Amino acid sequence: MEQKLKGLVEELEAKLSQVKNANDLNLLKAEYLGKKSVFNDLMKQLKDIPNEEKPLMGKLINEAKQQIAAKLDDAKMEMDRKLVEEKLKSEAIDVTLPGKSSNVGSKHLLSQVIEEVEDIFVGLGYTVKEGPEVESDKYNFEMLNLPKDHPARDMQDSLYISEETLLRTHTSPVQVRSLLENTNQEPMKIICPGKVYRKDDDDQTHSHQFTQVEGLVVDANATLADLKGTLLFVAQKLFGEERKIRLRPSYFPFTEPSVEVDVSCYKCGGSGCSMCGYTGWIEILGAGMVNNNVLRDAGYDPDKFQGFALGMGIERIAILKYGVDDIRAFYTNDLRFNKQFRGK
Ligand code: PHE
Repeated sequence: MEQKLKGLVEELEAKLSQVKNANDLNLLKAEYLGKKSVFNDLMKQLKDIPNEEKPLMGKLINEAKQQIAAKLDDAKMEMDRKLVEEKLKSEAIDVTLPGKSSNVGSKHLLSQVIEEVEDIFVGLGYTVKEGPEVESDKYNFEMLNLPKDHPARDMQDSLYISEETLLRTHTSPVQVRSLLENTNQEPMKIICPGKVYRKDDDDQTHSHQFTQVEGLVVDANATLADLKGTLLFVAQKLFGEERKIRLRPSYFPFTEPSVEVDVSCYKCGGSGCSMCGYTGWIEILGAGMVNNNVLRDAGYDPDKFQGFALGMGIERIAILKYGVDDIRAFYTNDLRFNKQFRGK
């Protein structure tokens, strides 16, 4: 009997070594410890052995059974441990692997400069307006004191879509639109940023599409002095509080008098350097008092209203402020260029 029990334990050990999964193990458990197991048969056989041997035999059987139960438990624990180990291995994260970098976008430099200019003017009480890029000849030229065949039309090479429509060559048609919209003829202060188009061959300093900000103030007594004060304030905000400005006489059909505005060079402070062509001054925009013809054509009485207008090239401001040396860089969208101005 003893031998048989020993054999049983060895037999189980052999079988355990073949076990591959939890199911195999459960089957073994049923086979050795279940209701129909050899141990049940052995217990039944107990009644046939002499009484004095019964306690010892019973003890041996129980011991073997306990041994087998312990081995099955161990096997189960070992199997669970291996499962957990495998799971950990398969789900392991290699913290030394380089992470996936995510691209953080940024505002285009032109958008940033537009917003900077808008903020300055909004701070002065101006309202920001928009106008269409496909514009009528009437608003782009005629009502700006540029009748058909006016020689000054040649100042701006135009891209016509039809006889009467073109891609706006400047943001000045928004002056006309704003004057006409203001049916109550209230005093007004507006700026309009936007894209403009000219029939230019693109090179380092020319682009067939660029960006302007128009400004217009009309009320009973806006003067050239107000224009000058405004220009000084804007130039100092853009290029530094120490900047000065100067106005040079110029010509635009829609303003009279017209001026070209220079800011003192922010690099040399006005003493002359390569940046300002050794003049101490850098041209930044065109401006002037709204021409009476423009007011009259829009239904305003020039004896009661006067105003000033200005037009600023955003690329020019950005080129000056950030040292961009090719206007085309704004439009080719090379991320290496764009990224340099993140959060400027
Ligand atoms: N529209 C002019 C240009 O594009 C600029 C300008 C605007 C000048 C307003 C005077 C007043 O050159």
